[in-house]
Amino acid sequence: MDVVTTSAPGKAFLFGEHAVVHGEPALAIAISTRSFITMQKRADSKVNILAKDLSIRNLQVSYGERGVEFDTDYSSVQDALAFVRLPMQAAFADAGKEIGLDITTTSDLLAGTGLGSSASISVATALAASEMMNLGWDNNKIFEVCRETKFKVERGAASATDISLATFGGVCLYRKSNKGDTTEKIENAPPLPLVIGYSGTAGKSEEMVRHVMRLREKYPEEVSEIIRAIGRISLRGAKAVAENNLAEVGELMNINQGLLDALGVNTLKLSELIYAARQARALGAKISGAGGGKCMICLAPEQELVKSAIEMYGGTPIVTSISKDGARVEKHKTSIEISEESKKVLGV
Ligand code: MEV
Repeated sequence: MDVVTTSAPGKAFLFGEHAVVHGEPALAIAISTRSFITMQKRADSKVNILAKDLSIRNLQVSYGERGVEFDTDYSSVQDALAFVRLPMQAAFADAGKEIGLDITTTSDLLAGTGLGSSASISVATALAASEMMNLGWDNNKIFEVCRETKFKVERGAASATDISLATFGGVCLYRKSNKGDTTEKIENAPPLPLVIGYSGTAGKSEEMVRHVMRLREKYPEEVSEIIRAIGRISLRGAKAVAENNLAEVGELMNINQGLLDALGVNTLKLSELIYAARQARALGAKISGAGGGKCMICLAPEQELVKSAIEMYGGTPIVTSISKDGARVEKHKTSIEISEESKKVLGV
């Protein structure tokens, strides 16, 4: 195969962020907004990454015998590119050889909003690499490769919830464990009426996770109770989602929000958006993700009303739906196909 395009979805949390880092279950959804990877074989052995979605627009780096070559030394750029580089290295190791590739990444997910853009890029890269080199990786293998990538980049202060949703899609109950993470997909989950609100600031996930860790060290019994309670809400929430009991899902989201507030990850802006959504008859509203900025999510049968309320309070509403698909191949092209340029030359 000469060219392949793959994609993987972003994610949002219905329940369980932060607690999931401490081994409790979280219930999250894959959203319809996706990241895309196109890989094309090169005649030489260079791997060229064109990351169109990084905040430094169209930054080009290449890596080969002498390692990664950058114009800049920003560590955040290194981290972002590791989400492509590490799955590629795993694929080369599995194939027992390296091939030259042009890799283009694009994402409809705004980086830094906590909607899982890095994870979706990583998962789409792993699938594309497997397709390019005929490795036959299934979703479990893709999850393992990208989980390892995430834990290397984020130095342990994270779960692989985003990797799980980008890989498997739908609505999943995910649990992090030293014995092996588990993902249970809720089959036939109903199409929940959701609105995400972006608060306009990109909080730092790692900082927020470390803040909760410090709080737990200082108040072990009290904070552990909060974390356990969030885990129980995720389990009960999963049941309510499977039963399409929207009223209960909403109520549990509100309780979860109270506990996230207790963990100190709320902000004034997020609070305003959450209360605005509730006043606009959302059944439930809470932070989605790390907090400290980024996004909130609400369950809102009257989506337009909630959208306007979020806008009125200075947030950016994102009306989204659940993506049943996780990672998928979008397009294949083999060398037998004639390129547009060749068609012009040949007059076909
Ligand atoms: C961040 O999106 C969610 C956290 O639970 C961290 C993680 O699960 O990696 C705060």
